[in-house]
Amino acid sequence: MTVIVNKSFLVFPVLLAITFTFAHGARFDVTNRCPYTVWAAAMPGGGQKLDPCQTWTLEVAAGRTRARIWGRTNCSFDGSGRGRCQTGDCGGLLRCQAYGTPPNTLAEFALNQNKNLDFFDISLIDGFNIPLDFSPTACPTSKRCRGIRCAADINGQCLNELRAPGGCNNACTVFRTDQFCCNSGKCGPTTYSRFFKTRCPDAYSYPKDDAINTFICPGGTSYKVVFCP
Ligand SMILES: *[C@@H]1O[C@H](CO)[C@@H](O)[C@H](O)[C@H]1NC(C)=O
Repeated sequence: MTVIVNKSFLVFPVLLAITFTFAHGARFDVTNRCPYTVWAAAMPGGGQKLDPCQTWTLEVAAGRTRARIWGRTNCSFDGSGRGRCQTGDCGGLLRCQAYGTPPNTLAEFALNQNKNLDFFDISLIDGFNIPLDFSPTACPTSKRCRGIRCAADINGQCLNELRAPGGCNNACTVFRTDQFCCNSGKCGPTTYSRFFKTRCPDAYSYPKDDAINTFICPGGTSYKVVFCP
């Protein structure tokens, strides 16, 4: 009997230590610094209207979460949270349960992966609608654990064939060919991907982007996403 009690005394703190070491939750502060309203979205996570200067705090559950955050523009929703947005619309719901419709600038992340590391990036593979910054809130611990941003005027400079209401499409969305979508696995940069790459070198411009665009921080880091940084 005494032995069992002693064992449980040992097991409990060990389990507690494991829980705190490998299962950090993460906090994401999503702030709108645009001069217009942005309807923030997260999948998983839902969505929220953000007037200029407002912040939405998302608590992401501990574990190996993969998710994306994006902003929607020119939305209108009724009292039950149904409606639509000009960009980034997720099936007409205020609280998203699906990914958004391109074009939308994406902040993507995978938390608590191998060796308890977080991986994150900005992707223009679904095009661009709002400039954004994606940063760890803690001090950088390495060269790869730093803030990234894509804040160029891509909407204003968008190539004619990629233009969309409220945004700028990726070539894959418009032309749907292997060359741009990389469905068969092999593809290289194009005039279109270079258009995005020169303006936002930190971001993915096409699926097989050869540059290092994934950033890495220790698990348990918290982050902020800022629209119009
Ligand atoms: C919303 O739509 C109007 C009319 O099409 C457009 O002028 C405006 O730029 C849009 N706003 C945003 C933030 O995209």
